[in-house]
Amino acid sequence: MSLKRKDLLGLRDMNSEEIELILHSSESMKEFIKRKVKKLPTLRGRSIVNLFYESSTRTRTSFELAGKYLGADTVNVATSTSSVTKGESLIDTGKTIEAMGVNTIVIRHPMAGSADLLARNVSSSVINGGDGIHEHPTQALLDMFTIKQVKGSLEGLKIVIVGDVLHSRVARSNVWGMTKLGAEVTLVGPPTLLPERLFGNLGVKYSYNLTEALKDADVVVALRIQKERQEAGLVPSMREYAQQYGITQDKIKLAKPNALVLHPGPMNRGIEIDNEVADGVASLIQEQVTNGVAVRMAILYLLNGGEDSEYIN
Ligand code: CP
Repeated sequence: MSLKRKDLLGLRDMNSEEIELILHSSESMKEFIKRKVKKLPTLRGRSIVNLFYESSTRTRTSFELAGKYLGADTVNVATSTSSVTKGESLIDTGKTIEAMGVNTIVIRHPMAGSADLLARNVSSSVINGGDGIHEHPTQALLDMFTIKQVKGSLEGLKIVIVGDVLHSRVARSNVWGMTKLGAEVTLVGPPTLLPERLFGNLGVKYSYNLTEALKDADVVVALRIQKERQEAGLVPSMREYAQQYGITQDKIKLAKPNALVLHPGPMNRGIEIDNEVADGVASLIQEQVTNGVAVRMAILYLLNGGEDSEYIN
C-alpha cells in the first residue's frame, strides 16, 4: 500500500482510509524505533529537505530522524541564514531546492496556504509541517495515533480540545481527522478564541465552560496559548485565562477516570496546563513526541512509494 497522492497538505482533504493507512503503518514504525540499531535501507538514495520559516523542535527534529532512520539523506534549511533573508520568494526557494533533485520538502511557514502554494509549484512531494493558523496534519496524525494506541479506536470517544482554538492549526487538523474516525469533538475556549461554526455541519460542539465540557470526556487535548499570534485584547489576562481554561488536577477529575491528556507542545506550564497534569499518570505528552517519529516515518514511507520501496524486516 502507498498514499496515492504527491503531497500531504492537510486532513480536510484526506479520507478516513488514507488516515487509517498512515496510523496502521505507524505501528510497525513504532516497533522499529524501539530497536537498538535504527537504520533501514527503505528510502536509500532519496532526499528530504526541512524548510522551516518558523521555529520548531518536535516537528523538524522528528522529520529529520524519521528520514535518517529510513535511510534517506536529510537536510535542514535554516531560513534565517538562507537566501530568504535576501528576499527570495517561497516559490523560487522551492524551485531551487527541487533543482537539486530533492524528493520531499517538509515546510513550516507562518502563512496559511503556503504549503499548498509550494506544492502547486514544485514536482517534489510537499509535506505541511504547519502553515499559519490553517493546518498541522502530521501533529494531528500523531495525536490520533497516540489515542488509538491506548483506546484501540477513536470511534465514539468524547474528545475535548481546549484553549486557543482561533490560532490553532493543531485544533483544525485534529477536528478534520478525529471526526472522520468517528470521535465526538467538543471545542472549548473563551468566546474571543473560539470561532463557532468554524467546521460547518461536522457536528462539532462548542463550549465556553470547561468544567461542563469535561464531564465524561475520554480525552482532553490542551492547546498552547499562541502568544506570538495573539492580537491585543483577546484574553483579559493570562492569570484569568489559566483559572478558567487551564487543565488542573481538580478539573481533570471531572473527566472519565481513565481519561487521557495530550498537548502538542511546546507547553506554557501553569497557563494551559499545570505541572501535576503535564507530568501525571494521565499525560501522554512524552509518548506523543515518540509517536511523532513513528508517524512521520510512516508518512515519508507511504508518500515515497510504500510497498514498492524496500520495506522493513
Ligand atoms: N507541536 C509542534 O509542532 O511542536 P514544534 O513547534 O516544536 O515543532
